[in-house]
Amino acid sequence: MNRVQKLIEEKVGWLIVLTVLVISVAMMVEILPLMFMKSVTQPIKDVKPYTALQLAGRDIYIREGCYNCHSQMIRPFRAETERYGHFSVAGESVYDHPFQWGSKRTGPDLARVGGRYSDEWHRAHLIRPQDVVPESIMPPFPWLASSKVDAESLPAKMTALRRLGVPYTDADIADSVKAVEGKTEMDAIIAYLQGLGLALKNKR
Ligand code: HEC
Repeated sequence: MNRVQKLIEEKVGWLIVLTVLVISVAMMVEILPLMFMKSVTQPIKDVKPYTALQLAGRDIYIREGCYNCHSQMIRPFRAETERYGHFSVAGESVYDHPFQWGSKRTGPDLARVGGRYSDEWHRAHLIRPQDVVPESIMPPFPWLASSKVDAESLPAKMTALRRLGVPYTDADIADSVKAVEGKTEMDAIIAYLQGLGLALKNKR
């Protein structure tokens, strides 16, 4: 056996040190550049921060666990792009904290569902999915129609997101409570869904 190999394999201390070294170099080469690459850290054209109402809707989406059945990540394969549209790119998710790419598809991917159906379709679907898709196994979410959006928490949420780099202005934050006045959680989640994926919607 080669002397160097023998030394490394027999001295566990050396083995550990060198293994850590190899992994660190690999991480530096693979992960660090991503943190500074414009194509993954900058929003693509037409991607805007969520409005106050959409942001409230996004939180309801997370609260209700929609991500357990729906991904928001179209992979660059023909079978996916034919069905859903342009594949997802990193620059679409830069304002998403946390992102909702997901990994489980019990239902269809929602990355480009914005504009695919009317608001009324979504309302009926969320109240009782089987009314519009008879074979659906999606559960109903009727309470969204009768609960009001939690407006008071929005300024704090938007301030926190601004700290993470989402370009909300002072006016956006100050006006957020008013912007969702009288809106139900149903209005908010529909506003969120209708905004999904529009930046690359008509490209294939
Ligand atoms: C238990 C799994 C499950 C959960 C949880 C779930 N869905 Fe679904 N969803 C489905 C299935 C299955 C379909 C396909 C049948 C249909 O359209 O109802 C679907 C379809 C959809 C569609 C239509 C997509 C399209 O392109 O036709 C939308 C929009 C949607 N769901 C939104 C939501 C939202 C918002 C939530 C959370 C409030 C949610 N879903 C929670 C399973 C689920």
